Amino acid sequence: MSQQIYVFDTTLRDGEQVPGCQLNLEEKVMLAVELDKLGVDIIEAGFPVSSPGDFKAVDAVSRAVQNATVCGLTRAVKNDIEVAAEALKHAKKPRIHTGIGASDIHIKYKFNSNHDDILERGVEAVKYAKRFVEDVEFYAEDAGRANLEFLARLTEAVIKAGATVVNLPDTTGYVLPHQMYDRIDYLMNNVPNVDKAILSMHNHNDLGMASANTIAGVRAGARQVEVTINGIGERAGNTSLEEVAMTLKVHKDLGFYTNIKSEMLAPISHLVSKTMRMPVQANKAIVGRNAFAHSSGIHQDGFLKHSENYEIMTPQEVGIDKSDIVLTARSGRHAIKHRLELLGYSTDKDKLDVIYVQFLELADRIKEVNDRDLVVLMKELEITI
Ligand code: KIV
Ligand code: ZN
Repeated sequence: MSQQIYVFDTTLRDGEQVPGCQLNLEEKVMLAVELDKLGVDIIEAGFPVSSPGDFKAVDAVSRAVQNATVCGLTRAVKNDIEVAAEALKHAKKPRIHTGIGASDIHIKYKFNSNHDDILERGVEAVKYAKRFVEDVEFYAEDAGRANLEFLARLTEAVIKAGATVVNLPDTTGYVLPHQMYDRIDYLMNNVPNVDKAILSMHNHNDLGMASANTIAGVRAGARQVEVTINGIGERAGNTSLEEVAMTLKVHKDLGFYTNIKSEMLAPISHLVSKTMRMPVQANKAIVGRNAFAHSSGIHQDGFLKHSENYEIMTPQEVGIDKSDIVLTARSGRHAIKHRLELLGYSTDKDKLDVIYVQFLELADRIKEVNDRDLVVLMKELEITI
């Protein structure tokens, strides 16, 4: 039986921290409602103590969201927790996400502190948050570079204090997938009360490993993934929701599922990109403009013979109408013939040989040949439908 992986979306918090991506209250509420429809389990709506605007936005999202848990971020600071609890008080399912730096680098250079003090502050924060809400997630910031023995002690202590979820962020995107597997596996086997909480992955993408690390963590025992639409977030970004959701869907053999309605992925990607003024790179996995576009002759020929030759999922599954055959000077005869037939032209071998020579000459000149260019070419060659 497949196991559920809970999807925690932080587009509106970690994603929104990106310079130029700030959202106003209406935009945050609109995106939160769409994320709820997409099927995410938890929406991190913001960092309420950070500004009056963010407080109001978390409050408004809490009122608007119908199904998902709504979460607010805090530091391990009493006032942050009180403010978050106030902002979340109208949420149907509220969660406070509190935590503190856990790596030796953070402990020394951010807090000028030591393991015991950090552990005590973490435990106090969880206990304090529990006064306001039942569902408390603890983050051990920079867990990716933290001392593993200390991380296990900290995880055990915050679970004992009542944490329902323990988030182990690779805040700096440093870890490699096999290391992530080993680290989560270590915690699963060395934290005696680990079965009383869910371990969560929150991976940044500084080395381009965020999705791979997240899947590695899931394979080792994590059951929640913290992600953003289009992978937006601090620096090189967060783990991309669409990549993780589709990896788990395509690789059913891994034995996991999410509640994500995958056919909403491309539309919500466009919506987030437009609202946050953050373009999606053309070759972005799942939702990029070229994710289902075939341009070389070999690929086009194979794709036209049988789409599974070059596609591991259908475009419709992720909300894209159809695959694209892009006609360029690298295209082959099969693709040209196919496109001409779609336009209503019939071609035999001799005609196609003539057309192909002219097509290559045109494609070398204008790079990409669209349907209108093809029709003009047919006129010039005096070929009619
Ligand atoms: O990357 C990180 O460590 C975070 C935490 C605040 C959860 O975003
Ligand atoms: Zn983060």
